[in-house]
Amino acid sequence: MGKTIIISNRLPIQLQISNGNIDAIPSVGGLATGMKSVHSGNESLWVGWSGLTQEDTPPELEKDIDEALEKNGCAKVNLSAEEVEGFYFGFSNRTIWPLFHYFLEYSEFELDFWNTYREVNRKFADAIIEKSSEDDVIWVHDYQLMLVPQMVREKRPNTSIGFFLHIPFPSYEIFRTLPWREEVLQGLLGSDLIGFHTYDYERHFLSSVRRLLGLEVSFNDIYLDNRVIKVDSFPMGIDYKKFKTAAQDHEQNKNTHKSDLQKRLDSHKASAPDTKLILSIDRLDYSKGIAKRINAFEYFLNKYPEYKEKVRLIILAVPSRSNVPQYQLLKREIDELVGRINGELATVNWTPIWYFYRSLPFENLIDLYTSSDIAWLTPLRDGMNLVAKEYIATRTDKTGVLILSEMAGSAYEMNEALLINPNNFEEQADTLKRAITMPEEEQKSRNTFLQNRLERYNVEVWANEFMNALKQKKEGGDDFI
Ligand code: UDP
Ligand code: G6P
Repeated sequence: MGKTIIISNRLPIQLQISNGNIDAIPSVGGLATGMKSVHSGNESLWVGWSGLTQEDTPPELEKDIDEALEKNGCAKVNLSAEEVEGFYFGFSNRTIWPLFHYFLEYSEFELDFWNTYREVNRKFADAIIEKSSEDDVIWVHDYQLMLVPQMVREKRPNTSIGFFLHIPFPSYEIFRTLPWREEVLQGLLGSDLIGFHTYDYERHFLSSVRRLLGLEVSFNDIYLDNRVIKVDSFPMGIDYKKFKTAAQDHEQNKNTHKSDLQKRLDSHKASAPDTKLILSIDRLDYSKGIAKRINAFEYFLNKYPEYKEKVRLIILAVPSRSNVPQYQLLKREIDELVGRINGELATVNWTPIWYFYRSLPFENLIDLYTSSDIAWLTPLRDGMNLVAKEYIATRTDKTGVLILSEMAGSAYEMNEALLINPNNFEEQADTLKRAITMPEEEQKSRNTFLQNRLERYNVEVWANEFMNALKQKKEGGDDFI
């Protein structure tokens, strides 16, 4: 077997050019942060978009850009501003993302978006063919590249191709509304193995294949022409050791080295030792339920006014896809909500919500995770949600309470968290109270189970299980005919 070619729209680093210099910034989002831990420069090549458009790239910097990517084991697919608009902001994030997260009313079915999506998927497929050889294994990632497996298969009929979807696959009743539903399924079926985070997403996909393409499906095998395609669920883990060690180092160095953020958190804790810190971290995305969470927080403070001045909600909302109108509207809604609630409820000593709209370096994420008594994550839909897993991994003394939406893929593996329905404010308010008053014994007992599971099913195990299943598929030669 040759090397592994990882292919995704988002590379682990994003390039920016300022004053003729190239800056590499770590990418945000579960795909990039998770895959980064299993990508090793020698054994894999990661192909994707650098974050720069062709128009933003001065020709004299081309070579330096390639070198900057190469240093990180990456190679780029060049996209024009028009392609980014139609493929990324358009079909990927105004059609598929809302549809697959059950925001049907936000999905735009534009033929131009679809045409650009097809063209750009072809570009990615061509880049794979150019940069790989026959015996390499191709691992395609996520909803931006669903046509790529079939496009590569046409030219490389015998190559091993795996595909992993990082977001939910919706139920047939939702998926069937997509005008290009058959083409998307055919694109995915170019793979030998298709992976999902949960069994439910897998089931939804198989049901769409059966009903829309009329193909024979037996257990998790799909029969197409002379091939058998395997479908399975592989819940993605995190780099457990990295988070645990970072939290241990953070604890050990607390007297010698402290970030400005940590100093601020400490001074808050010293001035109000009884106040509980409640944390939420998400990309600013409507699927994450941030606005609803803020409303639920207000509801909680009205239902249990004794907790005024006794809790503080820290919201880290990471800028995301800000050219898409729904994201701009959401940003405005959250700004207004935070402003109104802080304006109405704040006292001389207390601001109920601390709101950060930015992305933070890893060190600061560890500051937030380790300083917060409660993590409160309320996505309305989420393929997985790695933040939930990261919070638990950093709780070295095993204290801390995780409140997690049952609509997140990670809820399936995190039964010991307090699971809530994000639309039920009554339940959320009561659960917050329960989290605030949970005895330490109980916190530790719940987190022991969670940590053991996360340590065992870490991201490396996830990647190995996927790659082994793909390898077995190849070696097993279980294609009929
Ligand atoms: N993250 C980050 N910088 C930040 C905030 C978050 O790199 O400022 C990371 C976080 O550690 C996590 C990822 O972004 O690994 C978010 O992944 P998740 O699965 O929770 O949600 P997604 O953004 O993929 O929908
Ligand atoms: C989710 C998607 C990823 C995406 C990430 C960040 O995790 O599954 O494919 O990379 O969000 O979004 P962005 O649009 O910035 O790549």
